[in-house]
Amino acid sequence: MICIGIEGTAEKTGVGIVDSEGNILASCGKPLIPESGGIHPREAAEHHAATIVPLIKDALKESKLNIEDIDLVAFSRGPGLGPGLRTTATAARSLALSLNVPIVGVNHCIGHVEIGKLTTGAEDPVSLYVSGGNTQVIAFESERYRVFGETLDIAIGNCLDQFARDVGLGHPGGPEVEKLAGKAKEYIKLPYAVKGMDLSFSGLLTAALRKYEGGKPLSDVCYSLQETAFSMLVEVTERALAHTKKREVLLCGGVAANSRLREMVSIMAEEHFAEFYMPPMKYCGDNGAMIAWMGQLMYKYGLTQQIEDTTVIQKYR
Ligand code: KG4
Repeated sequence: MICIGIEGTAEKTGVGIVDSEGNILASCGKPLIPESGGIHPREAAEHHAATIVPLIKDALKESKLNIEDIDLVAFSRGPGLGPGLRTTATAARSLALSLNVPIVGVNHCIGHVEIGKLTTGAEDPVSLYVSGGNTQVIAFESERYRVFGETLDIAIGNCLDQFARDVGLGHPGGPEVEKLAGKAKEYIKLPYAVKGMDLSFSGLLTAALRKYEGGKPLSDVCYSLQETAFSMLVEVTERALAHTKKREVLLCGGVAANSRLREMVSIMAEEHFAEFYMPPMKYCGDNGAMIAWMGQLMYKYGLTQQIEDTTVIQKYR
């Protein structure tokens, strides 16, 4: 059984092909790099429309399969940016219709967790999913995935990207902030906002920008921003770990590329006698393979849909 997965929740289009044993046969992606500013939903959708067909061809080539070998189509149903979601859902529906195969719409965030489990061997982790658009602590409990905590405003990646943009660093901002943080001399106190297992980054972002505008060295502000934001992330993950009594922690999403965040989360896991896992970077950020693998899992449990039921609804905007 071969599943093709189509991803397009944010600025990146991804196409992956995975078999029912979990062998990743292809994973191709193409990000939209904005000339300036952030991601505009309409521009992301135009990017998806232009890249999806070439990526499907690339993925077939990489997997050495033909289009007729595809038995199932999966696509990211959300959460994400509405115009891009509708574009990729339309591509998925056309593909399923023309091949006369079943289709399944999957949850993007759970896709990150499941590809993390597939590629690391983690079985039942508390997952910290940190990306440009999402920040969630997720775990499987009482027969379903639950979001134990999440950002109440912007995502951690968005916070780092916006900070970098406003102080004149490039995009994406996370790696730039990390580089400069390594040159810091002093920690500057910034607001720490955790409530239960939820967090907030917008006040922290404003405060960090004010410190920089007030004359504090950029490297010190970058360091302090990272230390404060990552401590918040570690605290909510630790709370979820204590609550669920699980023995595994999985870090995933594009911000997992940050070595300081990895260090902090792994120290916390060790203190709780939990195993720390992180997927290879290729499968940390948005990718089509995670959507294809979710398609396989959902098909296995009878969760496919009728094509007419796969409309992406406005609430995912
Ligand atoms: O999951 P991802 O690839 O895609 C989207 O969410 O669209 O995550 C991208 C995010 C960006 O915000 C980027 O700044 C952040 O991951 N990121 C990092 C690092 N590398 C990428 N954040 C902190 N440190 C890094 N080294």
